[in-house]
Amino acid sequence: MAILHDVDPRSINRLTCGALRAGDVDNQVVLQGWVNRRRDLGGLIFIDLRDRFGLTQVVFNPELNPAAHEAAGELRNEFVVRVEGVVRHRPEGTVNPKLATGEIEIEAKSFEILNRSKTPPFYINEESDVDENLRLSYRYLDLRRKRVQNNILLRHQLVKFMRDFFDRYGFVEIETPMLIKSTPEGARDFLVPSSAQPGQFYALPQSPQQLKQLLMVSGFDRYIQIARCFRDEAHRADRQPEFTQLDLEMSFVEEEDVMQLIEEMLIEMMGKFSEKTLQAVPFPRISYAEAMDKYGIDRPDLRFGLEFRNVSEAMAGTEFRVFAGALEAGGEIKGIVVPGGGEFTRKQIDELDAIAKGAGAKGLAWLARKEGDLRGSFLKAITPEEAEKLTTGIGAGDNDLCVFVADQKPVVAKVLYTLRAHLGEALGLADPSVFAFCWVVDFPLLEWDEDGQRWDATHNPFSGFKEEDRAFLTTDPGRVIAKQYDITLNGYEVGGGSVRIHQREDLEFIFGLMGHDAEARQERFGAILDALEYGAPPHGGIALGLDRLVMQIADEENIREVMAFPKNQRGSDVMLEAPSPVDDAQLADVGLALRPTPASKPAE
Ligand code: AMO
Ligand code: AMP
Repeated sequence: MAILHDVDPRSINRLTCGALRAGDVDNQVVLQGWVNRRRDLGGLIFIDLRDRFGLTQVVFNPELNPAAHEAAGELRNEFVVRVEGVVRHRPEGTVNPKLATGEIEIEAKSFEILNRSKTPPFYINEESDVDENLRLSYRYLDLRRKRVQNNILLRHQLVKFMRDFFDRYGFVEIETPMLIKSTPEGARDFLVPSSAQPGQFYALPQSPQQLKQLLMVSGFDRYIQIARCFRDEAHRADRQPEFTQLDLEMSFVEEEDVMQLIEEMLIEMMGKFSEKTLQAVPFPRISYAEAMDKYGIDRPDLRFGLEFRNVSEAMAGTEFRVFAGALEAGGEIKGIVVPGGGEFTRKQIDELDAIAKGAGAKGLAWLARKEGDLRGSFLKAITPEEAEKLTTGIGAGDNDLCVFVADQKPVVAKVLYTLRAHLGEALGLADPSVFAFCWVVDFPLLEWDEDGQRWDATHNPFSGFKEEDRAFLTTDPGRVIAKQYDITLNGYEVGGGSVRIHQREDLEFIFGLMGHDAEARQERFGAILDALEYGAPPHGGIALGLDRLVMQIADEENIREVMAFPKNQRGSDVMLEAPSPVDDAQLADVGLALRPTPASKPAE
């Protein structure tokens, strides 16, 4: 891990609590900070003075400075103080090698209480478990604690690294507006009413997508932004309604150019900021189809195998009614070989069954082999040859367990994905010291929306498509492959982008497939459509989820741990108490009146 406090002490115009060393002994110093801890030891009073740079021990000695010692009795944790004193060597045997300032202490001559503190609602000086809502209600105190503080410092360093990296390659950072017109990225917009034009609304950007493309039309050629994005969507452990992207766009590029640059950046970044090893360089690339087939998800955790085996063909003539029924209904049968699972107890297998059912399976068929003996939930219903195909035939060894799901494709994918993720953790296959990056490519451009009876972009409508698939746009739009790439890390989607459509007719055509008529196209996307007619260069880009990258490097499982002021599961800022009602006058200013709304959505 990089040193997070690596600041030249001379560049800070006061002495920090992390600065003093043995070489400073006998110097007169002034130190300011928070009381981290106070100890009364047989006459001597010790306080550890803390700021974000470190801790320094201060001693109040009744024999040397009786007045200061007397007054120090009043000090409590989290008081802010200014101490004057002399730097001394710590006595023999009391040196603390774990502390950068551990060789010295300050003999206090006098001090001043700059501010008092109430007793904080939780310990600042230890990493005890604290109810998260309490932490978030007092986030300014929570941010004094090491864990989140280090995450925020890491975040700062990553952003600085990214800016420097892209600056080296000629990128220009440009801020795009927060008050824009809605950009479709798949989520609901946050709306902002206008008082200058009552009844009209801005939308907060779901991403700077259209604006960065317009900057390419302007000739900026290489753009980056540490961009705030807003999406009104369901909460997840890796999702916030307001989050940050490293957003990037380049002109005159193909997929390869963007992917190689990002890969170089990520490799350099991980080398600098993490001790984890990269599983594979260059990053492996798999197609969307392969990802879905082998892992049931488009962001597979590649730190371990447990790939799905398709046994639909092998079981084509089976009499086992569960399997036969699924195949007749147009479904499929897939399984996973669980190494060592032959040893599992019935209880362990029942647990897997419960997980499968929780993910939507009707049941979980299993076969376990131990020292030649075969057990299973459907042995009676299959022939010995079939049992062989379902074990040895899919690579199962002597002590392995095979689990199968027979259902419609999406159900099989979801259930086996859930089981695979569970097993990867439970069997310790997901090595926590490894980063497995993977590019997922060759996504379909469009997917059929049954409800809307129209095509929808799988990512965003601006994504380009493989030229060789152009004819399918009219004959079989679902077959068109996009010039889209996602980057995943240990099962998280950490970024995504594409080479864009840069010709008006093509973009109009896609919007048409999505069900926007000519008038709606002009009304909603007029700016970008028009701009494409004024010499728009070929261009492409990507956006990385900054918060998710920090999560990975900081080893945090929740995105809230890497944001200074996150929202809770219900999208609330419990410290500021937002969202909150506004008064009628404010509503009137923007031409709004409230009507009764359905009860707010429950947290997930
Ligand atoms: P996309 O929607 O895939 O692409 O977003 C890019 C990356 O942003 C992160 N991300 C999020 N992080 C936290 N909370 C959220 N709610 C959230 N939503 C997304 C993910 C994701 O991979 N304009 C396109 C990019 C492009 O094509 O250039 C876009 O926004 O890590
Ligand atoms: P049954 O014949 O109903 O006793 O089912 C035999 C086995 O098949 C049991 O272990 C069930 O859990 C399992 N099973 C039922 N439905 C499915 C399914 N859709 N996919 C896989 N296994 C299933």
